[in-house]
Amino acid sequence: MRKPRRNHSAAFKAKVALEAIQPEGEKEMDTVNKHLLSRRQFCARCAAFGLSLPAISAVLAVQRSARVLAATGAAAETAGRTVRFPDGTAVPALGQGAWHLGQGRHPPAVEEEAVRTGISLGMTLIDTSGNYGNGRSEQFIGHVIAGQRDRIFLVSKVEANQVSGDGIARACEASLSRLGTDHLDLYLLHSPVPSTQFSGVVAAFEQLRMAGKIRAWGVSNFDMGQMEDLFRVPDGHRCATNQVPYSLNNRRIERDVLPWCTQHNLPVMAYSPLGGDNNLLVGDRTLAQIGAAHKCSAAAVALAWVIRSGKVIAIPESGSPAHAKENAVALSIALTPRDIQTLAAAYPGPFGAA
Ligand SMILES: NC(=O)c1ccc[n+]([C@@H]2O[C@H](COP(=O)([O-])OP(=O)(O)OC[C@H]3O[C@@H](n4cnc5c(N)ncnc54)[C@H](OP(=O)(O)O)[C@@H]3O)[C@@H](O)[C@H]2O)c1
Repeated sequence: MRKPRRNHSAAFKAKVALEAIQPEGEKEMDTVNKHLLSRRQFCARCAAFGLSLPAISAVLAVQRSARVLAATGAAAETAGRTVRFPDGTAVPALGQGAWHLGQGRHPPAVEEEAVRTGISLGMTLIDTSGNYGNGRSEQFIGHVIAGQRDRIFLVSKVEANQVSGDGIARACEASLSRLGTDHLDLYLLHSPVPSTQFSGVVAAFEQLRMAGKIRAWGVSNFDMGQMEDLFRVPDGHRCATNQVPYSLNNRRIERDVLPWCTQHNLPVMAYSPLGGDNNLLVGDRTLAQIGAAHKCSAAAVALAWVIRSGKVIAIPESGSPAHAKENAVALSIALTPRDIQTLAAAYPGPFGAA
């Protein structure tokens, strides 16, 4: 039976929710810095990808401030470029999802170019799962990252129906083999199991971590009560993240999951950050207008909004090089308070237009 949930007051929830979604100025950049390019290399790469001058300037500004950060540890000027896990590991706030990749949605060479483009432009976190396309997504990602594994923060998942016995260890071995690597940076439980099974799941993840097969573990699609139950089992607090849906047109997690995670120093990983296939935000007029002011696409604005707090990692999926370019620009956009207000009016959250 589930244990009773802590009863937070509405005022507490609103305060923590506000804190969770407010932009944060200070970002440390160690993981990302390893991959910074020289100005000349970067311009050449952007030109090769057909990025516009304003977009190049914006990203260069981010690179400059990242170098200042690396040298001085000073606060970043732009919010949301990197996100830190509880163990101190910093990752780019924008990664790449791979649910449909390697399965014929786009020609394989086009998808490969899309992911490579995204990596080159800083989206070095890649999210896949053992069950995406029955392993074809992992095989595709394994192929794309071959030769550059050390640049990538690799995330995969195990299914809820695989957790009994030594199922998690076996699923992990199969994923490692398809991905052509000896470790995952993050391994997630794809969807909740009954809370009576949490301690077994955590023990299996911890064994994999001790064995060096995974660097960290987390969960996906957990509600706040499930997070509380997880943190009650031994080592449950070692959970690195909760991957949940979050976008302008799906702000449900702002009610409790996002504030709870922020209170517990846990970044949230936002899936379907563009609204997902059936609810795509990219044609939205408000987003396009804000994008015009920032000289970027509606998609980039939608993503910049998701990562605005520095406490959320967004993992948009694209098998199109042009879309990957557009998306990467979100790493360098600082939405203004007025932009945020306009977006809140168009897409009110659970506490209204804030
Ligand atoms: N844990 C979970 O239960 C769970 C559930 C769902 C998803 N996920 C993860 O989250 C990732 C992303 O979620 P998602 O695929 O549902 O939704 P999404 O990233 O919000 O949307 C993907 C769709 O957006 C299109 N797109 C991407 N960039 C675009 C741009 N700049 N302009 C126009 N269209 C653009 C893509 O088409 P093109 O390929 O043509 O660009 C694709 O159709 C998945 O790949 C997966 O890794 C996890």
